[in-house]
Amino acid sequence: MTYIKIQQVSKFYKRRGQVTEALRDINLEFEQGTFVSLIGPSGCGKSTLLRIVGGLTDIDQGEVAIGGLSPLGAQKQKQFGFVPQSPALFPWRTVLQNMNVPFEVNTKGTGMKLEQREDPVELLQSVGLGDFVHSYAKELSGGMQQRVGIARAFGSGAPILLMDEPFSALDEITREMISYQLLDIWQSHQKTVLFVTHSLREAVLLSDKVVVMSARPGQVSKVIDIDLPRPRHADIEDNEQFHHYISEIRGYLREKWK
Ligand SMILES: Nc1ncnc2c1ncn2[C@@H]1O[C@H](COP(=O)(O)OP(=O)(O)OP(=O)(O)O)[C@@H](O)[C@H]1O
Ligand SMILES: [Mg+2]
Repeated sequence: MTYIKIQQVSKFYKRRGQVTEALRDINLEFEQGTFVSLIGPSGCGKSTLLRIVGGLTDIDQGEVAIGGLSPLGAQKQKQFGFVPQSPALFPWRTVLQNMNVPFEVNTKGTGMKLEQREDPVELLQSVGLGDFVHSYAKELSGGMQQRVGIARAFGSGAPILLMDEPFSALDEITREMISYQLLDIWQSHQKTVLFVTHSLREAVLLSDKVVVMSARPGQVSKVIDIDLPRPRHADIEDNEQFHHYISEIRGYLREKWK
């Protein structure tokens, strides 16, 4: 059943008399629990699309529905967890205290108790941070902080996670390791994820669907279903089909250069 429905969406930014057409006629539909990657050249509107879905940016044309709600309605019902490029952690709070932040915000006034949240230690263990629960956030490396951000989003109770290039500031080796941890944590939680990346490898490894976008005004060039079996593990990268998908996506991205 369709969960996120984006119909004929267009977006213009108007600044100082200048109009930028950021998105044109976007049509996309995703079912609940789908991992979707958005990939495309810089400036093609990936972040804009994420913000539109999350109710942070309005649209000029079209319609977006999330489980029958408007993005703002869904936002009010705490349906979204955001994972930005750099994790918004409180440096002077411990990792555990940082993990509690979205729960505290989302349940304020509802009478829900901290004990009812998903076990933060288990979540931290699944991203390899079981030994750092009581460390201060400022004592962690960039990659470790980003892993706290991911674990926290999966424990936040929000059914939809919007991740905007969460690994872009990391070195390649850390990035590869974190992509497997994200794969594992997603496999055990199966949230709906919209994930922006410039990495073809990450897109294929993680996704059920890859949305390839073309340069400004951003349009959908192709939606590719990644029919690789799940659960997936590192050895999936030895699979011939894995590399076939990467070449296919590269082909669609290059098509627009001509
Ligand atoms: N707040 C804003 N005001 C005016 N123009 C904007 C604003 N945000 C984005 N744009 C413009 O909209 C277009 C799409 O921007 P967006 O940030 O969504 O692209 P992107 O695909 O996320 O790019 P990148 O890969 O570099 O992050 C760009 O031309 C950008 O200049
Ligand atoms: Mg962006």
